[in-house]
Amino acid sequence: MNSCVVGLQWGDEGKGKIVDVLAEHSDIVVRYSGGANAGHTVVVGDSRFALHLLPSGAVRQMPICVITNAVVVDPDTLIKEIDNLAQKNITLNNRLFISENAHVVLDYHKKEDQLREESLGKNKLGTTIRGIGPCYADKVGRSYAVRMADLRDLKKLKAKLQTIVDYKNKIFAALYNAEPISADNIFEKCKSYADKLLPFTIDTTEFLHKSIADGKSILFEGAQGSLLDLDHGTFPFVTSSNSSALGMPAGSGVPAKMVDKFIGVAKAYTTRVGAGPFPTEQDNEIGQYIRERGGEYGTTTGRPRRCGWFDAVAVSYAVTIGAIDSIALMHLDTLAGLKNIKICRTYKIDGKETTFFPADTARLSKAECIYETVPGWDEEITEVSNFNDLPLNAQNFICRIEEETGKPITIIGVGPKRKQTIFR
Ligand code: GDP
Ligand code: IMO
Ligand code: MG
Repeated sequence: MNSCVVGLQWGDEGKGKIVDVLAEHSDIVVRYSGGANAGHTVVVGDSRFALHLLPSGAVRQMPICVITNAVVVDPDTLIKEIDNLAQKNITLNNRLFISENAHVVLDYHKKEDQLREESLGKNKLGTTIRGIGPCYADKVGRSYAVRMADLRDLKKLKAKLQTIVDYKNKIFAALYNAEPISADNIFEKCKSYADKLLPFTIDTTEFLHKSIADGKSILFEGAQGSLLDLDHGTFPFVTSSNSSALGMPAGSGVPAKMVDKFIGVAKAYTTRVGAGPFPTEQDNEIGQYIRERGGEYGTTTGRPRRCGWFDAVAVSYAVTIGAIDSIALMHLDTLAGLKNIKICRTYKIDGKETTFFPADTARLSKAECIYETVPGWDEEITEVSNFNDLPLNAQNFICRIEEETGKPITIIGVGPKRKQTIFR
């Protein structure tokens, strides 16, 4: 049985928690897109892990962890993550594989990300400054890209880096009047990346297909969320990868038809970090209530997340483009104490009602939300382990979301811990 967990909103839906829970029954856990812009939180007892590149299955001792071709690997972050886990006696020796074809995020990517964002002023995208856009741009441009396999031939890499850094320095000086970077420094760092990461570097496509032939069960872990997808999200306020379920086959080299189940993860409300349209945003005391109760501050950047009501139009779109089979609805506990809860069922744009999410930001920015209001509940539900023990109003809220999205909600999150998970 192979499954894929994918975010149905603008990221931070609780993918890390769900992947950790499901990883108990998986042989292999795979990160297939994005980079260290992701921050996936896993809570195990009193320990809290924030993973940026390692699949969330890493915190368990057993599953094999794979980072495939379309991930952009920031070696500094990855090495730090491996070391942090080692300090907690969780070793990745013999159970981490990184694709030789994955692209490498280097310091000039992060610098370019930061300089561009600063120069855009109020028009900035609000990126995580992890060098994601510049690294994917180099991948698409091809001539100045560095892949993991390039770390194998340091002599060749040295010459290549000199060419790339010369080019980057011209841009830094001309566009941003910024200090040049040193190709030698980057090369020295690459030597240490080669030492530390080449032992893990293989052809992951071959490995995954052999594993499937051997009957292993694979769990694919999406990063970001469907609405941040480069081609299908709210462009330009998106990330630079295919972060919807559509990115899984291209990103991993495993066709979608080899995956038995696509599980979409959504919060019982909506959050967004960074700029861009957000129709159900509650920039008021409701949003504040959700942010404080839900601890809605970025795992990667610490930024306060924008909060709003559940948007069934947006989630249904992510379900449709991802052929999602079932939904994990997280943070139900966060909504306790609200007298009424709203669900956006329809948008009105230029006087016309639509239930199909427009990814075009100009149209989306004009969307007025038509809400259904359902009664809330006061009881804390963080100890509830059975659907039938939830307050009736919470049960009804879940059933309404199922009706709106047309998909069963088979997992419900009532807190960050593993056992705070209801299965139906
Ligand atoms: P991801 O990027 O999708 O993995 O999500 P993040 O880890 O960035 O953000 C989700 C946050 O919510 C983390 O702090 C989790 O520990 C926490 N969390 C996950 N599920 C639940 C839940 O059902 N209830 C509550 N209260 N917290 C949750
Ligand atoms: P996880 O995997 C939430 C957002 C950034 C910004 C936009 C572009 O934890 O759900 P980028 O650095 O990718 O160029 O930034 O995308 N973003 C995320 N928001 N969760 C994430 O990942 C995100 N990864 C990127 O805030 O708006
Ligand atoms: Mg996150």
